[in-house]
Amino acid sequence: MNILIVGTGYAGLVTGACFADLGVNVTCVDSDARKINLLLYGGLPIYEQGLEDMVKRSVEAQRLNFTSNFSTVFDDADYVFCTVDTPPAKDGSTDLTQVVDTATRFAKQIKKYSVFIIKSTVPLGTCKKVKEHIRGILDERKVNFDFDVVSNPDFLTEGNAIKNFMKPDRIILGVDNERSRKAMDTLYHPLKFKYFPVIYTDPTTAEMIKYAATSMLATRVSFMNEIANLCELVGADINTVRHGVGTDSRIGSKYIYPGCGYGGTLFPKDINDLINIGEENGYSMEVLKAVDKVNTKQKHRLFEKLRDFYGGDIKGKTVALWGLSFKPDTDDIRESPAITTIDLLLQAGCHVRVFDPVAMNAIKFKWNDIYCALDIYDAVNKADAVMLVTEWRQFRVPAWDKVKELMNTPLVIDGRNIYDGNDLTNMGFSYFCIGK
Ligand SMILES: NC(=O)c1ccc[n+]([C@@H]2O[C@H](COP(=O)([O-])OP(=O)(O)OC[C@H]3O[C@@H](n4cnc5c(N)ncnc54)[C@H](O)[C@@H]3O)[C@@H](O)[C@H]2O)c1
Repeated sequence: MNILIVGTGYAGLVTGACFADLGVNVTCVDSDARKINLLLYGGLPIYEQGLEDMVKRSVEAQRLNFTSNFSTVFDDADYVFCTVDTPPAKDGSTDLTQVVDTATRFAKQIKKYSVFIIKSTVPLGTCKKVKEHIRGILDERKVNFDFDVVSNPDFLTEGNAIKNFMKPDRIILGVDNERSRKAMDTLYHPLKFKYFPVIYTDPTTAEMIKYAATSMLATRVSFMNEIANLCELVGADINTVRHGVGTDSRIGSKYIYPGCGYGGTLFPKDINDLINIGEENGYSMEVLKAVDKVNTKQKHRLFEKLRDFYGGDIKGKTVALWGLSFKPDTDDIRESPAITTIDLLLQAGCHVRVFDPVAMNAIKFKWNDIYCALDIYDAVNKADAVMLVTEWRQFRVPAWDKVKELMNTPLVIDGRNIYDGNDLTNMGFSYFCIGK
């Protein structure tokens, strides 16, 4: 079995490396030659737990190859995964240029039956349109190769991506005929010794499942953030509220942690896509519009807490940020609350010092007027506040006496509610978190 992965980013590289680890021959192709060169020289363009070893193993066993040369990559591919990015277009819709480009290459180059599997998150109906597009090009080529287009949405969460692949909650497969169903059964057979449901449906329903799942999780986060903000005003404690709510077996404890807003590409992009899909179909997605609005406001909370503490007078203050990535265990800073916070601090005339265990490279070229610290202690040197933005494990138990000694003003603004406020107050810190 030969698999071709088109788009070697978070989704593509993890999918490729995992299939290769299961013994399958995988080629990963990407239009970004720098990314491919880095992989060819043993580097990784992304940080994901466990991925480096996995890639190394399969490259050494010659089961995993990387290339930026598209000329023959489709020749032997039994399955082609489309894992290119699908960013928002200027008008708010989803930009499918790279998906269409990949489908065009597929159609122009295949030499035998092959399955085109769309793992990128795409608007409803995309599979159908891609199938017509491929058919049109094959007709122009005057060849009659069979092919199928399948929707196989990706539910990976960065930081847990390998586990998500190897032990998925479920696999969703949108197929439109028995042949592609059989082909997908064969493809996922190596994973089937573990029990998990494989849900077969039509492609449009599969596409909708992806959007609905992401939107549900984002809704829980924004809902709890609103409850947290109200807790602050009425004197309730969100941590206990969360515990009380999460122990209700109808609700459960996941995705109800209050914080300084969600980020990444997944939640913000999928929510906006679904709002747009609603508009295109004459339906206003009121809940999701509110979810997005609440999240945008929530990303301002850390800055507002700082401003309130200093009575609005923050020009010239030095502020340290612990964490830049939108969540721990990834170097992905896209849409991270840290970005909003840094922008607000710089606009207000603050000096910004940041530290993140893996995401420092990602911001080095974004701003040249912030200080990239060597560690959490270097970050707080002479700081008037420290903000915890990403709950990396190594931030959980800082040497607070050292932190206090280094800071100008011992002010901690905890954007993820991981510290014990009483302890910190007893040590002489001013402590603020979300919802308490
Ligand atoms: N990152 C996640 O956690 C995640 C989870 C589920 C779904 N997804 C979806 O998967 C898709 C990819 O997301 P990502 O985070 O991996 O993006 P990414 O930006 O990390 O990777 C996309 C890769 O595709 C490459 N590319 C773009 N156009 C190409 C082309 N025409 N040919 C070959 N390569 C091309 C880019 O160079 C890049 O390396 C998106 O639709 C996203 O919504 C992502």
